[in-house]
Amino acid sequence: MEYVVTGGAGYIGGHLVDRLIESGQGVTVIDDLSTGSYINKRSRFIKFDLRKDGFDEDLGKNPTFIHLAADPDVQNSMLDINSHYERDVTATLNTLEMARKADAKMFVFASSATVYGNAKKLPTPEDYDDVPISYYGLFKKVGERLVEYYSRNYGIKAVSLRFANITGGRVTHNVVYKFAEMMKKNKPIEVWGDGNQRKSYVYISDLMDAVTILIGRDSIGYDTFNIGNDDWITVNEIIGILRRRIGGEPQRSTIETDFAKIGDQREMFLDASKIKKLGWKPKYTSGEAIDLSFGDVLGNWK
Ligand SMILES: NC(=O)c1ccc[n+]([C@@H]2O[C@H](COP(=O)([O-])OP(=O)(O)OC[C@H]3O[C@@H](n4cnc5c(N)ncnc54)[C@H](O)[C@@H]3O)[C@@H](O)[C@H]2O)c1
Repeated sequence: MEYVVTGGAGYIGGHLVDRLIESGQGVTVIDDLSTGSYINKRSRFIKFDLRKDGFDEDLGKNPTFIHLAADPDVQNSMLDINSHYERDVTATLNTLEMARKADAKMFVFASSATVYGNAKKLPTPEDYDDVPISYYGLFKKVGERLVEYYSRNYGIKAVSLRFANITGGRVTHNVVYKFAEMMKKNKPIEVWGDGNQRKSYVYISDLMDAVTILIGRDSIGYDTFNIGNDDWITVNEIIGILRRRIGGEPQRSTIETDFAKIGDQREMFLDASKIKKLGWKPKYTSGEAIDLSFGDVLGNWK
């Protein structure tokens, strides 16, 4: 099978490309290397900025597109709105056009739990609808509708995947990465607000298992799936995990934060029963995912 992975040099994309190649698939990566830098040497790599149209490389016969390229920085989306629009919406539209022209077998879109805004229903099921609280979430929601449009009007089998927070492996941006970077620089870890904000985390290998199930599924039309864990944990609990791992109390400082202004959900917990019916079960809880992830980024820290 042939796969086109946009954003395949990034955190999630790099792991997915490795997984696909290990299972004998042919993979073309399209990435502009704006934040990503990982290149699997067994993939075909095309450097291209998807904000532009005019892509003219041959992508083979009926490839499956996995569209991960985006700017995943939620807080930055509140400041740099137009830049995010281009990376999250314009790039998605251009990628859909490429998929249409290549007679894509399937289109997989990396969406996000941020589409639910400050959901009043937790865990949040796929049919919950609310206004996102960040431009990032809003643009993911627009991206999903673009994908649905192409699926319904051009007959491309498609799926939008709403990820919880993904952690572990070569992670380059999340709470674990940020805390680890501060520890390495011998700085106090900066905690936003009271640390009681609470979210669900999925270990990277569990995400890979979920994506593998969904791309192998015999289906038609368009669908959406949450990919989240059975539990959720606070930032204070994450610091407890860090404490046990390093065998001491990390220095801590408080940053007063207006969560609405930075577009950050204080609570995020997804109902993943729909994908579980297809046989997916995360091997690691949120706490275990965070602990493993600290191990991945800190090594044997003592
Ligand atoms: N990491 C998470 O916890 C998480 C959670 C929810 C959703 N997502 C989504 O999953 C996807 C992958 O996220 P990630 O964490 O791997 O991010 P990442 O920043 O590590 O990877 C994104 C990749 O896209 C590339 N890229 C960005 N703009 C591009 C453009 N215009 N043209 C070509 N390439 C471009 C970057 O160079 C990078 O390699 C994103 O769509 C993100 O929004 C991630």
